[in-house]
Amino acid sequence: MATSPRIWNWIARRYARQPVPDAAAYQRKLDQTRALLAPDMTLLEFGCGTGTTALHHAPHVARIDAIDFAEGMIAIAREKAAAAGAGNLRFEVATIEDWPAPDASYDMVLGMSILHLLAERRAVLARVHALLKPGGRFLSSTVCISDMGRLPRLLAPVLRGLGLIPVASLAGETLLAEITAAGFEIEDHWRPGPGKPMFVVARRG
Ligand SMILES: C[S@@+](CC[C@H](N)C(=O)[O-])C[C@H]1O[C@@H](n2cnc3c(N)ncnc32)[C@H](O)[C@@H]1O
Repeated sequence: MATSPRIWNWIARRYARQPVPDAAAYQRKLDQTRALLAPDMTLLEFGCGTGTTALHHAPHVARIDAIDFAEGMIAIAREKAAAAGAGNLRFEVATIEDWPAPDASYDMVLGMSILHLLAERRAVLARVHALLKPGGRFLSSTVCISDMGRLPRLLAPVLRGLGLIPVASLAGETLLAEITAAGFEIEDHWRPGPGKPMFVVARRG
């Protein structure tokens, strides 16, 4: 799967203006995440986009490092952080594979709407596991195309083939198995409805 930040840079300003597609589900994810936070915690969010989620959580933790491979997304995230006066939030252009943090750096890693876009999903899960402290948590929300209707299932290989947005043909059960195989215990998983993105709370043993 070819993967490039070009399309994400191109759509960044439009993406930032769009309302969250399912506000109730997003709020439930924020609340569930928030319930696991503590003031001394350090978080990493990868594929952070324009930083909306990191900005929500920043007041409740010691520090958040938020990274994305698209400069356009990070530029907007930095503008939003400056406007909010969020001093404990660092936005950087990076992938999780390249991010130069030592192992066991983080209490929590967030990957919202990103796992289905990664060519090397298993390697990324291994990296998330390594970056977490023992007992740390990985929270993710993932589009599972294989559980959706016929049209998205047919479109995914086309988008991949064109090198536009490389959405994986992934099923929820496969995702849970991969997260478990990476060394996590699944603490919770849910979807707001059939075929909707799967939210997973996983704990590093
Ligand atoms: C669907 S958006 C999600 C953004 C944000 N997490 C949210 O929930 O709104 C996917 C984000 O992942 C980034 N991304 C896509 N593929 C990536 C890759 N291979 N490595 C790093 N970031 C990637 C894009 O730049 C984009 O900002």
